[in-house]
Amino acid sequence: MNQSHDAEKPDPAGEAGNPSMDSGETSLQLQLQHAERLATVGQLAAGIAHELNGPLGNILGYAQLASKQPDLPDQVYSDLDHIVRSALYAREIVKKVMLFSRQVPPLRESVCLNQIVRDGLYLTEPLLSKSRVKTICQFCEDLPPMNGDPGQLRQVIVNLIVNAVQAMPDGGEIVIGTAREEGARMMTIRDNGRGMDEKTRKKCFLPFFTTKDIDQGTGLGLSVVHGIVQAHGGRITVASKPNAGTTFTLWFPLTGQKDE
Ligand SMILES: Nc1ncnc2c1ncn2[C@@H]1O[C@H](COP(=O)(O)OP(=O)(O)O)[C@@H](O)[C@H]1O
Ligand SMILES: [Mg+2]
Repeated sequence: MNQSHDAEKPDPAGEAGNPSMDSGETSLQLQLQHAERLATVGQLAAGIAHELNGPLGNILGYAQLASKQPDLPDQVYSDLDHIVRSALYAREIVKKVMLFSRQVPPLRESVCLNQIVRDGLYLTEPLLSKSRVKTICQFCEDLPPMNGDPGQLRQVIVNLIVNAVQAMPDGGEIVIGTAREEGARMMTIRDNGRGMDEKTRKKCFLPFFTTKDIDQGTGLGLSVVHGIVQAHGGRITVASKPNAGTTFTLWFPLTGQKDE
């Protein structure tokens, strides 16, 4: 685990073709590029969702209207019912995308990181047991609570757990720890999966970057994680080694929050 990459300085080596850029100014430029790309993803998603809402409303409306016709064969009523239910389901998805892309500011509630991890493990329990992945928790029991959005923070831990599970197709172990460091609460999540080569590690936080098959990944998980951590004033880094495993480390500052 000898290589570390700070998510706030994504290195576009292989994209911009200049892996040696390291001045403060360049790093700021890269951060801006990264933020712009994330904003573009949000706008794109919101645009598509908006465009789909109209035709979906029509499908729903006409199917409901048609099902009011008397004396149709039973099979037609049943088909129309399927159309209505599928359209309602699609509308739910559109609503979720719109919520996500509106980029609402995170809630500010007093939350305990240890509890967030427990919730994340509870939510992923079926996946963990099916995948023969064992989890070990090493909690700092007097971790001070933080101001945050519990739903978004749960999304962070769930995304990191799912990635870790997918990196261990033959099962393995995830160790999740919390700690109190000078000026920050820290959380680490370590797996002993297939790890990442340097090129993958440097790109892993970029939106739509994925090494997985189309039905396995969208390449949005880590960019969402990164966005949420940043919105909480935090930082995330990754260390990884091929065939040895991956560790994500998150820091949330102790200061600068309303309740501290
Ligand atoms: N724990 C991990 N172990 C190995 N590779 C990982 C891990 N987490 C993320 N990655 C790499 O980073 C890429 C991007 O992750 P993510 O943004 O969650 O998208 P997705 O999981 O949809 O591919 C993954 O495709 C994978 O190559
Ligand atoms: Mg993922």
